[in-house]
Amino acid sequence: MENLLTKTMQTKNVMATYARKEVCFIEGKGMWLMDDRGNRYMDMVSGVAVNALGHSSEVVLEALQKQAKKVMHISNLYWNEPQMALAEILIELSGDVLKDVFFCNSGTEALEGALKLCKKYGQENGKKYLLYMDNSFHGRTIGALSITGQEKYQMPFGALIPDCISVPFNDLQALTQVLEAYKGQIAAIFIEPIQGEGGVIEVREDFIHAVEQYCHSESALLVFDEVQCGAARMGTYYAFQSIGVIPDIVCMAKGLGGGVPIGAILSNEKASVFSKGDHGSTYGGNPLVCAVSLAVTQTISTFAFLEAIKVKEIKFKMGFKAMEALGLIKAYRGKGLLLALSVEDSNKVVEMAFQEKLLLISAGAETVRILPPLNVTGEEIELVLAKIQDVLEKCI
Ligand SMILES: Cc1ncc(COP(=O)(O)O)c(C=O)c1O
Repeated sequence: MENLLTKTMQTKNVMATYARKEVCFIEGKGMWLMDDRGNRYMDMVSGVAVNALGHSSEVVLEALQKQAKKVMHISNLYWNEPQMALAEILIELSGDVLKDVFFCNSGTEALEGALKLCKKYGQENGKKYLLYMDNSFHGRTIGALSITGQEKYQMPFGALIPDCISVPFNDLQALTQVLEAYKGQIAAIFIEPIQGEGGVIEVREDFIHAVEQYCHSESALLVFDEVQCGAARMGTYYAFQSIGVIPDIVCMAKGLGGGVPIGAILSNEKASVFSKGDHGSTYGGNPLVCAVSLAVTQTISTFAFLEAIKVKEIKFKMGFKAMEALGLIKAYRGKGLLLALSVEDSNKVVEMAFQEKLLLISAGAETVRILPPLNVTGEEIELVLAKIQDVLEKCI
């Protein structure tokens, strides 16, 4: 009998925006995925940092089923309990440095909403420029693309939104020059505490402190895109808690929902400039996704869970160090469970890994990203490390 993959490839009804691997997954459990031919894969992509608790987690299933039986969607014309409870825990987890939450459905939408907040703040304060980092990634809508510092994503679409200025990431001298040139006219600075898609590159301490200092002294908004690195992935619930800098706005998605589509914009007093009618979303913050997100957030934000992530990071890095000593990789980097290997040819490694039933994802031509579920066990990490080593040896 014809399997699902063959059918999918024949119909070709889906727009060809992705270079998809020739596999169709039908079920998963924990860090494992099964395809429609009975093959089992180790999943170190986690739906691109989404499945915080792995596939088919009991936490997710229970919350999903319980809420689905009550009410799934009502719109934002009315209040719903899971949304209020989720907002409360997210603010509490920020140590109350953030104050308000707007719920949307994805990372791009969170950035898009944050852009509107910043533009309104700019209008009200006579500041029109938005700064963003080279090599960054903030999403695919016209707004999010306008502050995404990668030509390959921006180029095909012509004119984007005006007054967005890019700065070389981690280049303090260049940053100082730009801040001086536009002094007093910058509404907001957008930054990923650790660039994910751009190659798993942590922001330098001197750089982020200069950004923070400018935003503070010149009343600009500091926006952290924590879509990929937030929601516990760096070993603290918010990434900003790992680097000791407090932003005015935080954008969240991916691990926030652990598999259901949800995004969030969190803002402090200074940045909370939306009033009634300024922004909206039909689905945003619906009871179903918020109930799941609440259960996931309660699970991944405990002290013990966050501490365990730091132990897992060390275990992965010990394995990578051994691979480096063997000459299998050039270097390794990352924080928490947002990890990366520096290799000669990332596509070759990802493809070889796929042949060997290990799912990895590249982040540029020479970087392979490793995004395990946050509840990956010590034994599973050993299996993954052995598999990665095997794959790297086959690539030589
Ligand atoms: C840092 C960052 N921001 C924004 C986005 C866009 O999120 P989404 O794909 O959910 O729209 C991504 C997606 O990879 C991301 O990594």
